[in-house]
Amino acid sequence: MSRSAHPAGPRHGDVLPEGHYSAPPTDLNALDPKVWSQTVTRTADGTVTVGGIEVTRLAEEFGTPAYFLDEADFRARCQAWRDAFGTDADVFYAGKAFLSRAVVRWLHEEGLNLDVCSAGELTTALDAGMPAERIALHGNNKTPEEIERAVAAGVGHIVLDSFQEIVRVAHIADRLGKRQRVQIRVTVGVEAHTHEFIATAHEDQKFGIGLAGGEAAEAVRRALKLDGLELVGIHSHIGSQIFDTAGFEVAARRVVSLLAEIRDEHGVELPEIDLGGGLGIAYTSDDDPAEPHDIAKSLREIVTRECAASKLRTPRISVEPGRAIVGPTAFTLYEVGTIKPLEGLRTYVSVDGGMSDNIRTALYDAEYSVALVSRSSDAEPMLVRVVGKHCESGDIVVRDAFLPADLAPGDLIAVPATGAYCRSMASNYNHALRPPVVAVNDGAGRVIVRRETEEDLLRLDVG
Ligand SMILES: Cc1ncc(COP(=O)(O)O)c(C=O)c1O
Repeated sequence: MSRSAHPAGPRHGDVLPEGHYSAPPTDLNALDPKVWSQTVTRTADGTVTVGGIEVTRLAEEFGTPAYFLDEADFRARCQAWRDAFGTDADVFYAGKAFLSRAVVRWLHEEGLNLDVCSAGELTTALDAGMPAERIALHGNNKTPEEIERAVAAGVGHIVLDSFQEIVRVAHIADRLGKRQRVQIRVTVGVEAHTHEFIATAHEDQKFGIGLAGGEAAEAVRRALKLDGLELVGIHSHIGSQIFDTAGFEVAARRVVSLLAEIRDEHGVELPEIDLGGGLGIAYTSDDDPAEPHDIAKSLREIVTRECAASKLRTPRISVEPGRAIVGPTAFTLYEVGTIKPLEGLRTYVSVDGGMSDNIRTALYDAEYSVALVSRSSDAEPMLVRVVGKHCESGDIVVRDAFLPADLAPGDLIAVPATGAYCRSMASNYNHALRPPVVAVNDGAGRVIVRRETEEDLLRLDVG
């Protein structure tokens, strides 16, 4: 394997092209604990380990590309959320971020609940032994079959997303001779993304029932009249990758004021509010996520204060973190293939995966970091774009980052914070085989979702 430096591409001290990066890091071998899971460390010989195993051994045993999920880190994050919210609140892990039977078992053992939004997620949850009463069903267009399965299974609650769904769920519950606990999802007029939130004009979306024009109050009126439904709460979810809790505070205030309106009109105090998910994580060292403890404290304070002002009993609060639990627990390990230096621009580093295992960069312009993990290097930083092997020029995994200038084909690089919305959004584009998820713990790796095979592809192709 060649270790020669590449002849071109900007280096330390060069004028760099425009991009989403700050200055080159002073130490390319350092692993920022904000972006890497807790057991990841670089050993004295330069190899990175997770759960006590070198990535080189993991690559030999499980191949690349592959997601390696730090089980101890996952459990610690579950515990941090559960402890922060305590016994008078509920934490629902958002299964859409990443779900497998092992994950369901860990959630169950760590005392978390689970939010699912499809029949597939519901089946996985029930199959792995999550008690139905600890599951909530979401979705803006749940099919009658999905609703029927959830009601029949006895899920803890269904989050109603539209006027039509209020009637649909009530009819199905009636037919099954059940009274289904439900929440109503409202759009509170706050849409938050990363560092900002916007307080106008975002009821223009497919989810939920608008609060400002009185639709939510009307939805409550209708739900309260239907025997098949037990309306227990109001739900709000304001966005994703949020760092600033101000958006949650506005949402909490608006939801509590709806609870007060409901009490005044119907004499009913709804016992639950759910403030959704969306808490941000560190994808790069520039991100500073809030701690679960601080989030819990600020939500609890605002809800308690607003309820006291409206003379309401404080409802049971729930939240639905997905990314904030699983995102930081995993990295994707790739082998470097073709390296293409472009004089005065950047060096393109092609890996053996791409947009089929991480669509977020192409889809949302998401930012990631990357590190050389099979060895350390004292070479100068080189500005790179990490790209996949797919037939799309937008097939970018890491748009702008620095790797050592002696990077060579065969090196292993890892992209941290890929636990959420990567495997769960993976595709078979170019008939790529979706990578495995390997749980690593105490010196051993265990496949929890296996790598797809060509037989899997051909089995579906029945033409
Ligand atoms: C209703 C709801 N709850 C929770 C989540 C989880 O969000 P995150 O993974 O950003 O915490 C989502 C994500 O889209 C959502 O739509």
